Amino acid sequence: MSLKDQFLEKFPDAFFLERNVDQVNRYLQQQEFLHKNENIRSLEKPGEGNMNFVLRVITNQRSFILKQARPWVEKFPQIGAPIERVSVEAKFFQSLEDNTGLHNYSPKCLRFDDHNFILITEDLGKGADYNSIYKQDQLLGETDLASLIDYLSMLHETKIPTDFPDNLAMRKLNHEHIFNFPFLKENGFNLDEVQEGLQSVSILYKSNDKLKQEIEKCGVIYLSKGKHLIHGDFYPGSWLSVSDGIKVIDPEFGFVGPVEFDLAVLIAHLMMAEQPVHYIDKILQEYQQIIELDKGLLAQFSGIEILRRSIGIAQLPLALDLKTKKELMDRAAEWILQRKF
Ligand SMILES: Nc1ncnc2c1ncn2[C@@H]1O[C@H](COP(=O)(O)OP(=O)(O)O)[C@@H](O)[C@H]1O
Ligand SMILES: [Mg+2]
Repeated sequence: MSLKDQFLEKFPDAFFLERNVDQVNRYLQQQEFLHKNENIRSLEKPGEGNMNFVLRVITNQRSFILKQARPWVEKFPQIGAPIERVSVEAKFFQSLEDNTGLHNYSPKCLRFDDHNFILITEDLGKGADYNSIYKQDQLLGETDLASLIDYLSMLHETKIPTDFPDNLAMRKLNHEHIFNFPFLKENGFNLDEVQEGLQSVSILYKSNDKLKQEIEKCGVIYLSKGKHLIHGDFYPGSWLSVSDGIKVIDPEFGFVGPVEFDLAVLIAHLMMAEQPVHYIDKILQEYQQIIELDKGLLAQFSGIEILRRSIGIAQLPLALDLKTKKELMDRAAEWILQRKF
């Protein structure tokens, strides 16, 4: 059965979005979204995505972005994924709209169509994500780093709507791929296919019980309720470079959780992208928070993100040879064991 048929079998009266002008036109008419005399000129794939179906709609008057969640991961349809993630994303963007600082960093939610699992947002413009920083000698500029720190400082202090979803199903999915699966000795994932020799390197961490205990404890913290709104997936694929600076998108893993998690993901990806080590100090100095950071937890979450990206399913286009990767992974393991950078 095709994916479309599977979707329609599960949601018989929902709309399955496709890159087809007539079909999208019908959908937007039905939603009464188009202005008077507004016609679709073209549809584009706006950039690389992971979990969802995303389209840029260009009309004779404006452009906007359609994003539909399906009950699977778009890139790997054999992996199921909670469809309610789209309402988390809608709620997240809506929560930032009244914040004078944050609304500059995020697209406005133009329409949320719960029934069809479709979110329509403002088009931030053609831009590229920051996955290019994993390439050799690609530096993330200090201005961009300052913007990312500024964003997190404001986000973590923003007022949380009382009805913000717990996003537990998405967190459980993430929990499995961050804190569990990568560290199982027999998980059926042959790392030598990613990089020759990586499988035997991975055994060092997979057989370190003390390390695994610490990772498990952090996993429990990830799954428990925190006090601040966090983005939940603060890595270069969620940052967009457009004409007026850096924007942050894709908050479908957002929840009320530990601020250290967002900061750790930032730090881990900067290290995997071989950015200057002093960027860690810059983050620690410039991040503004009323509450005190748990630096031990921050170091641990950072180490875990490095390890899980290195030996788990969610691989990155890293430029590291095996020796350099192992050195970084050893450092990551020390952060977890020592609870400090
Ligand atoms: N509001 C937007 N404005 C411009 N481009 C966008 C916008 N939202 C998404 N994109 C582009 O579409 C790509 C996929 O969107 P994203 O929200 O990351 O989807 P996914 O959840 O599938 O990863 C992004 O990497 C970006 O290039
Ligand atoms: Mg994305």
